[in-house]
Amino acid sequence: MPFGDLVALEAQLKREDVAVFIVEPIQGKGINFPPDGYLEGAQALCRKYGTLFCVDEVMTGFGRTGTMFAFEHWGLEPDLVTVAKSLSGGYVPVGALLMARAVHEAVFDSMPHAMSHGSTFAPNELAMVAGLAMLHELDERHLVERSAQLGTRLLELTRPLADEFDVVRDVRGIGLLWAIEFEGDGLAYRMLERAQRGLFAQLVVVPLFTEHHILTQVAGHDMAVVRILPPFVLSDEDVDDFASALRSTVRRARRMPSSLTKFALTAAGIR
Ligand SMILES: Cc1ncc(COP(=O)(O)O)c(C=O)c1O
Repeated sequence: MPFGDLVALEAQLKREDVAVFIVEPIQGKGINFPPDGYLEGAQALCRKYGTLFCVDEVMTGFGRTGTMFAFEHWGLEPDLVTVAKSLSGGYVPVGALLMARAVHEAVFDSMPHAMSHGSTFAPNELAMVAGLAMLHELDERHLVERSAQLGTRLLELTRPLADEFDVVRDVRGIGLLWAIEFEGDGLAYRMLERAQRGLFAQLVVVPLFTEHHILTQVAGHDMAVVRILPPFVLSDEDVDDFASALRSTVRRARRMPSSLTKFALTAAGIR
């Protein structure tokens, strides 16, 4: 389903043969926020047509957006929630499916159905211990609140870049899920775009890493969006350092020095 399109969603759901609708509350690819009313509307449509409403919190869960789960920002009550990634602080591969009691009782309602969902290594002890330790740390160190505070600071410091630089189209974020989007209409920018969509983003990602030792990533293959999902144990100074490294990197990238441009084209396999 196109993200944000309730009409298209209803057209599918109204057949009343759709078991589950899965949606990322904020899309990890591109860090796209939902249009106003979309998630609430999708949940209401799911209820209306008897479809389970599942929120994918693999990227957004456990404090990433400044609340325990991103769905809390819209007051949603999903039937299912997928979680993974930070569930073990990234140390042990682990994922989980959270479900409303009614769903759990409907799936595991009898002995024959006890094996409806299982796997040899699913309840792996090391993964479970790592998951519990992460939950303990979140609580003990108030890291969800910290994510919200750091995110506010990060956005305050970086949003002005959209006014300062013509190549910055948007700076957006919530908690410690943050992205900057580029757009340009100069000749050099258009040449890079023609070579590969979103290539300009590499002019920011590479120097941030090589010169400032900051690891960022493009938020999807064919888009000029750079994102960060930093750890919640950052200090305020780390956020300040990131903002100033970003400002100087964008300032230099927008002039598109030939050494950087050549590097980007080579990396993209164009030269
Ligand atoms: C939003 C989202 N959902 C699901 C997945 C898949 O998670 P896993 O690799 O743990 O299966 C990812 C992985 O990047 C993701 O970002």
